[in-house]
Amino acid sequence: MSRQGLLERISGSFPLIAPSMLKCDFGNLHREVQLLEAGGAQILHMDVMDGHFVPNLSYGPMVIERVRELTELPFEAHLMISEPARYLDDFLKAGCNLITFHLEAVPEPRPLLTRIREQGALAGLAINPKTPVESLEPFLGEFDVALVMSVEPGFGGQKFIPSALGKLAWLRSKLKPGSFASVDGGIDLETIADVAGAGANMFVAGSAIFEAGDYGQAIAELARRARVPVVPR
Ligand code: DX5
Ligand code: ZN
Repeated sequence: MSRQGLLERISGSFPLIAPSMLKCDFGNLHREVQLLEAGGAQILHMDVMDGHFVPNLSYGPMVIERVRELTELPFEAHLMISEPARYLDDFLKAGCNLITFHLEAVPEPRPLLTRIREQGALAGLAINPKTPVESLEPFLGEFDVALVMSVEPGFGGQKFIPSALGKLAWLRSKLKPGSFASVDGGIDLETIADVAGAGANMFVAGSAIFEAGDYGQAIAELARRARVPVVPR
């Protein structure tokens, strides 16, 4: 799918609930993907960790490539790794459609954002809870998605850090047309309305989906609670 087609598909699905494939049952990946797809998921969020940028390991392009065979859903690779530029081609080859890397992981994000876009994928730039949102300002217009981490990256099941709300509100007034805001970490039935009100368009959720009995119901309920008017600043 073209970049434009992908952007239209994604923005046509706001509020977009993105299941985080860190909390899924890795022994039953095929079934998990089927259940998510049947449950109305519009994108799958793949958490990639290298034990260096974050103190945890997960999976890489070899696993994603096999999951790619199971579904047509767009994939986001959330690269929590130290040298994203080194592995970019592997994630593109594995079929990732949106590649999100961390501002803290690179000396200068522009070359990588450009490379991702030139390959026909969407480019995401993520910031950790301790990184000021204003650090994204020089790159507005050069990424498609700003991902605001609302927990320290590395683990699912952590508590939402409210400083994400002010960051999302800042992004709302600064984002260029055609780009959007995503939030990741501690998003559940309690926290989603606040981040939606602050202006998030995409909501990454791990525990809130995978710890629910019925994934479809969890996704639908999260989306329902995310349909709130954006709060004026
Ligand atoms: C954390 C990951 C998240 C995480 C979300 O480092 O980037 O995507 O899996 O999990 P929950 O929703 O449980 O916070
Ligand atoms: Zn993530």
